[in-house]
Amino acid sequence: MCGIVGYVGERPCRDILFRGLRKLEYRGYDSAGMSIVTDSGVNSLHAVGNLDNLEALLDQLDGGGTVGIAHTRWATHGRPSVENAHPHTDCTGRFAIVLNGIVENYLGLRKTLLAEGHIFTSETDAEVVAHLIERSYGGSLQRAVVEAFQQMEGHFTLCAVAADEPDVLVGVRKETPLVAGIGEGEYFLASAVPAFLADTRAVIYPEDGDVVVVARDGVRVFDLDGKPLRRKVQTVDWDEEAAEKAGFETFMLKEIHEQPAALSDTMAERIGPDGGVVLEGLGLSAEDIRGLARVVIVACGTSSYAGLVGKYALERWARLPVEVEVASEFRYREPVLDADCLCIAISQSGETADTLAAMRMARAAGARVLAITNIVGSQATRETDGVLFTRAGLEIGVAATKTFLAQVLAVLLLALHFAEARGHMGLDEIRSCTDELKRIPGLLSRYLDSEAPAQVAEVARRYAGSGYFMCLGRRAGLPVAMEGALKLKEISYVPTEAYAAGEMKHGPIALLDAGSPVLVVATDSPVYDKLMSNVQEVIARGARVIAVASEGNDSLADVADEILYVPRTDEMLSPLLAVVPLQLFAYYVAQARGEKVDQPRNLAKTVTVE
Ligand code: AGP
Repeated sequence: MCGIVGYVGERPCRDILFRGLRKLEYRGYDSAGMSIVTDSGVNSLHAVGNLDNLEALLDQLDGGGTVGIAHTRWATHGRPSVENAHPHTDCTGRFAIVLNGIVENYLGLRKTLLAEGHIFTSETDAEVVAHLIERSYGGSLQRAVVEAFQQMEGHFTLCAVAADEPDVLVGVRKETPLVAGIGEGEYFLASAVPAFLADTRAVIYPEDGDVVVVARDGVRVFDLDGKPLRRKVQTVDWDEEAAEKAGFETFMLKEIHEQPAALSDTMAERIGPDGGVVLEGLGLSAEDIRGLARVVIVACGTSSYAGLVGKYALERWARLPVEVEVASEFRYREPVLDADCLCIAISQSGETADTLAAMRMARAAGARVLAITNIVGSQATRETDGVLFTRAGLEIGVAATKTFLAQVLAVLLLALHFAEARGHMGLDEIRSCTDELKRIPGLLSRYLDSEAPAQVAEVARRYAGSGYFMCLGRRAGLPVAMEGALKLKEISYVPTEAYAAGEMKHGPIALLDAGSPVLVVATDSPVYDKLMSNVQEVIARGARVIAVASEGNDSLADVADEILYVPRTDEMLSPLLAVVPLQLFAYYVAQARGEKVDQPRNLAKTVTVE
């Protein structure tokens, strides 16, 4: 939940590290800090709040050091404060560490260290690591890091530097991200590639328990016994431009506009010349798919709403029973799982702690696991029987947009693939769906380039002062309503609830009175008339209706106060289009309220703690 960056090279590292932190700010931004190894020892700097506050103090740090570590924090243990900001140092100030994740047994370790006379200056779980290294150090930082690591329980990535070894940076990971960057005479460790993308695209993805030793002559990887390991150097195809805003005022707006490309890329090579769906790497043969008795989809937040679209599609097209489970609940229940069950884990980051735990549980119970993720090399890809990658590209905005669309497309492709394998759809039927799917990126491009986003912005600004929104939908419109409500909550902080429209009369309708804004996903569907009855119930309470409707639907003109049209498509594919005006609506409500949409309060992009 935090961002880590480390550097060893020939250049003064202060500004390089800071630039790396800027790229990782989406991972956490309640405090930040940096430690640089110099001739006089380890010099550190900390600041509360976002990175602007650290930047204002940077001149206080020796600009000449060429080895250092830095951290941007999302608080778990200990409130955001200068004392709790990383890097943490030991009693002597000779060692500095940064940590992402949680040290679950820190209280016991801290107690022991205190009894031994160590002096703590923070409330964090991470500080124990600096003292463990101090205690173990006998001339090798690598060895001391390993000894500390072996005493720690939980899931974390840690990086350490030592005054006595001014040419070395050591990192180790356990179930949280760490990537090494290999530049020209300079080397990096970071939580994510964008931290060093300006300097290199050559990377190593260490495995769990790999000890990464970064020195002036290169990066070496060892196991915990000190045995050298071979890890492949890979080239990432993101360029720095992809990690920038490309002219948009925010990452979120840029990412909304990247959705047609996210869909095209995710679809590429997965629809064959005959119109059939071709999915590689699932780890499931046609016979396996035929043998499935049911599917359990585990995910969190936005990914779980993509899972709900998957449920409707798998039930309708592949005739498979599907449950969608919030991973944080699923992992602590006693779900019934067996070898006939497929667990599909959906996670854009592939690092969400609850989703990973649910995957492990499903595997342990004998179920097969298929991960749908956007991040190559993420933890989810290492703990699964098969992977279906979305190809949305890097998403920086904390509020997911393009990754959601890519997930929805992935589950639709998967459902079609399963439908064919199970004999519930012939190639002609599949082709008619895939032909329509192929049209969607173009339809969405046309929508985003039209006047429609400006119209959504205008409507959003008119309702931005509302104290409450309700979102309604039915069938494929329900996950869209839920995702729209989450976007409003996340970035505008306006209380918003989503309901299945038919459920409203069982309670939520009591919330409505004159002027209450109700967003209704009213695109074409077999239950459109039923939905219109629900809309009439809303209107009878004086509420104002903002409808998302299929282009050409004139019947809403007398019913809705505002109509946000989207291109017409098949109902099952409609979430790919209908969610976009709701993303934009949430965006412009937040903007009108003066909120920072890329960094919503209390949230982090990747939730690597439970
Ligand atoms: C989406 O806008 C949210 N930031 C959040 O709900 C997110 O979808 C959730 O934390 C799951 O993340 P994942 O897809 O990386 O597992």
